This record gives sequence, structure tokens and C-alpha cells, in this order.
Amino acid sequence: MMAGERIWSRITGTGGILPGRAVSNEELARQLAERGVETSDEWIVARTGIRQRYLADPSQSTSALGAAAARAALAAANVDAAAIDLIVLATSTPDQIFPSTACLVQDELGAPGAAAFDVQAVCSGFVYGLAVADAMIRTGVYRRALVIGAEVFSRILDWHDRTTCVLFGDGAGAVVLEAATEPGILAARLRADGSQARILCTAGRVVQGQLQGDPFLRMDGQAVFKLAVNVLDASAREVLADAGMSVGDIDWVIPHQANVRILSATARKLGLPESKVIVTVDQHGNTSAASVPLALDVAVRDGRIQPGQRVLLQGVGGGFTWGSVLLRF
Ligand code: ACO
Repeated sequence: MMAGERIWSRITGTGGILPGRAVSNEELARQLAERGVETSDEWIVARTGIRQRYLADPSQSTSALGAAAARAALAAANVDAAAIDLIVLATSTPDQIFPSTACLVQDELGAPGAAAFDVQAVCSGFVYGLAVADAMIRTGVYRRALVIGAEVFSRILDWHDRTTCVLFGDGAGAVVLEAATEPGILAARLRADGSQARILCTAGRVVQGQLQGDPFLRMDGQAVFKLAVNVLDASAREVLADAGMSVGDIDWVIPHQANVRILSATARKLGLPESKVIVTVDQHGNTSAASVPLALDVAVRDGRIQPGQRVLLQGVGGGFTWGSVLLRF
């Protein structure tokens, strides 16, 4: 890179991991029935498009999943862990209150000296993390980052609440983001509305060694649905305007994978053919901060996303938070 040349950031490798094994709707429905909770494959598929999810076993931590996804991304980028100088990890299910899960991953990978911290923006976390890492690389101080989304949402679900427990799964996805002389990331925008904190939250906390409040995920599904569709549309238009592009310039959209109906409604509102939307929620469930990097990894590895194509990544989730990253792959 020549002195004075503009610095961009580019994704040079992707990785993902799905823990444990796939649990189908039928198997989940049988397990829930034993607890007196009634649901069915038909209801779950019709309302959400989800057919199965992966659930971590008790020995699998968020940091272990994050490190596994990071290793796959490093291998794809042909970058050694020791060359990484920044680790941004998005999670709402950290291993512990502190230190950050990013620090635990840094140790597990062997990336000594790299800056490491967590981003907490729930299902928007990966998009938030990517925008932050992009900005840090563009300062010229950092050159090779790992951006990771890693979650074990199964551990904060109330398995007696059928309105939430059928929706989520566990997993991790990661990218290597490197300084480059060409983009890369073309535009990124993050937003939040804290007045909507209560429509999707896990409000519990530990005080004086005691759990206070509700430790489980709670959601007003219909309020989340409406807000998600509106903000995803507005956010897409915002980054397209920043990059001087239009909807027709997008090759692929990877929205947060919450629900097939949200994906379809967003594509319709944007005027984008559904064939350009990458969908993994049917196979993975909603893996929160891991959903976007996992879907990106699937579509890169199966050859749909090709070098040079323009990809729109979108996050939306608790906070309420949302954001978009528009990039040339
Ligand atoms: N199995 C069977 N029946 C169920 C289940 C279930 N798992 N869950 C709810 N029901 C019942 C309800 O009790 C209700 O019964 P009733 O009519 O007798 O009262 C009926 O199904 C309809 O319930 P609604 O809540 O009205 O169903 P809706 O069509 O809104 O679908 C859903 C619920 C899927 C949660 C929907 O609101 C949604 O997709 N919201 C978006 C939220 C989302 O995807 N969140 C993910 C996290 S947020 C994020 O990642 C951005």
C-alpha cells in the first residue's frame, strides 16, 4: 500500500460452525410435548419457515464455537492466527460476564497482542461488528481483523414458552477482514431505538450473587415483525444511497435470518426478487449474531457468491438495533 493511498477493508475468508446435531421440528415437538408444551411442524413451518435448528450440547461454549468458525475463516483466507491484530466478537450469550468472549477466543486461537472486545447488539451484532472493524481498519492502525458472531441462544430460551423456544438455534460464523487498496466494504450504517427495548429482551441480571429479573428471552413477536420489515427496508436504501447505487445493483442480500416471512416481506418492499435473498433460517433457525456470517459462509462455499459481486448484509434485533453493510465480495 502506498503512502497517502485510501485504505479500504475486504473480506478475504469466511467460516462457520453448527454445533451438536440438527433437531427437526418433529423431534422438538415431541420433546416439548413431554413438558406439556404443544406445537407442531406444520405451525412452525407455516409461521416461520424453520424446519430444523442445531442445539449445542452443554460442553460447547460460545468461545469454542467462535474459535472454530474463526479457524475456518482463517484457513479460507490463508491467514495465520498470529497475524490477526483485531478481534471483534458479537454475542448476547457470552461465556461469562467478563472477560469478553473475544479475549477467550484470542487465547484459544493464539493471536497474542490483537485487540479483542465483544459487541452487544443482539441479532444485529455481526453487522455492528463488521462496521466497527471496517472503521478501525480504515484508520490505518489495524490491518487484519477477525469479525465473529457466536451464540448459544438455546441457553436463554424458556422451553415452556412455545412462542419463542421453537425459533432459535446455536452456531457461529466468522470473517477475516483485511486492509486493501480497493473495496471491499462500500458503505455501512448502524442505528438503534432504545425506546423499543422491551419488545425483545432478556432482562435478568446478577446482583450480589443472586439472579434478579427474568433470565429468559421474551418477545412481542408481532411488534418485532413489523419493526423489522420497516427498518430493514429503510436501512438498505440508506447504504445504497451512501454508495451511489440502486436496488438493481445488488447481487445478493443476506438479511438476519429470523423468519422466512420477514425475509420475503423485506424483499417485496425493496422490490428485490426473492431469488437474490440467501435463506438459511429453514436449516439453522435464528442464530442471532451468528446468522448473517453463517449464511454468508454457506453461500460463498456453495459458489453462489462470486468474487466481485455486490452483497448487502443486514442485521436487526434486540435493542432495538439494526444496520446494513454493502460490500463488493
Ligand atoms: N406452536 C403452536 N402454536 C403456537 C406457537 C407454537 N410454537 N407459538 C404461538 N402459537 C399460537 C399462539 O398461542 C396463538 O394462538 P391463539 O390464536 O390461540 O392465541 C397463535 O399461535 C398465533 O400466535 P401469533 O403470535 O399471533 O402468531 P404469529 O403469526 O404472529 O407468529 C411469530 C408468531 C412467528 C413469532 C411471528 O410473530 C414472528 O415471526 N415475529 C417476528 C419475530 C421473530 O422472528 N423474532 C426472532 C427474534 S427477533 C429478531 O431476530 C429480529
